[in-house]
Amino acid sequence: MREALQNAAVSRETTSRPPAAQAPRISLEATKGRSAKQWPKPPRCRVITIANQKGGVGKTTTSVNLAASLAMHDLQVLVVDLDPQGNASTALGVDHHADIPSIYEVLIEDRPMKDIVVAAPEVPNLYCAPATLNLAGAEIELVSKVARESRLRRALEGYDIGRFDYVLIDCPPSLGLLTVNALVGAEELLIPIQCEYYALEGLGQLLRTVELVKSHLNPKLEVSTILLTMYDARTRLAAQVAEEVRGHFGDVVLKTVIPRSVRVSEAPSYGQSVMTYDPGSSGALAYGDAAFEMACRGAEKTE
Ligand SMILES: Nc1ncnc2c1ncn2[C@@H]1O[C@H](COP(=O)(O)OP(=O)(O)O)[C@@H](O)[C@H]1O
Ligand SMILES: [Mg+2]
Repeated sequence: MREALQNAAVSRETTSRPPAAQAPRISLEATKGRSAKQWPKPPRCRVITIANQKGGVGKTTTSVNLAASLAMHDLQVLVVDLDPQGNASTALGVDHHADIPSIYEVLIEDRPMKDIVVAAPEVPNLYCAPATLNLAGAEIELVSKVARESRLRRALEGYDIGRFDYVLIDCPPSLGLLTVNALVGAEELLIPIQCEYYALEGLGQLLRTVELVKSHLNPKLEVSTILLTMYDARTRLAAQVAEEVRGHFGDVVLKTVIPRSVRVSEAPSYGQSVMTYDPGSSGALAYGDAAFEMACRGAEKTE
């Protein structure tokens, strides 16, 4: 009995984690996860927009964690935060109070990208174009601007994005001009889909917007990737949703599914992605696998 209790105490000790705020810094080498091998470098910079007009489906979480995974494998990555909430900037530990030069000044005042891009402090090779609350006004201010749908593309063209392997654009939860700018500025669209009831609702509207952008503004745009997020393996519903999405979209859906994990939702409040906050957690391992899968698919494509 006593032995059993002692064993229980030991196992509790080894499995329990220190309080998050004092979490020890973990060497990045240790965080490289399951695929420590060299990750393929795309032949040229892949610009990927992460959009879904529904809020809370995992756009920002996906942007930040895929970006961190890729950067940890020696790829150069820029995250463009296009949501006035600035959640991606927060999660990357990047300042985004109103006085910080941000993507707002780029879109509205023609400020060059080089003036606003900063290094994310937690992960080498990872950079961020932050968003401030000023961006909330941009949706309206853009309406009267010349080439209002193409302002992000122009800004990216005027910036040396060739030095990046990936540019990931995190969108706000709407199909307004900010999201349209992201769709015009990218060649790929990644749609995160939450494994919940109503998961597919609104997707038709997003896909129609994509078709409009393709036919009028950006013929190169392609829905290249769908990622199932917040999967709860205990529910039949999650499995049903996953099956339905795969039935609709086939191979575009990544094989990796992101599980619901508390560590994923805790990480942003420490200005971190889950990849550095708790690299061994199920969420971090899954995002690592998803990023690897995405990187391999990109490498298969020919120019
Ligand atoms: N895999 C996950 N497990 C647990 N919580 C998650 C997961 N992915 C996202 N979340 C949480 O769900 C909420 C919405 O995610 P977020 O990425 O901000 O969505 P969006 O950018 O689409 O609005 C956030 O609080 C986030 O921390
Ligand atoms: Mg978001």
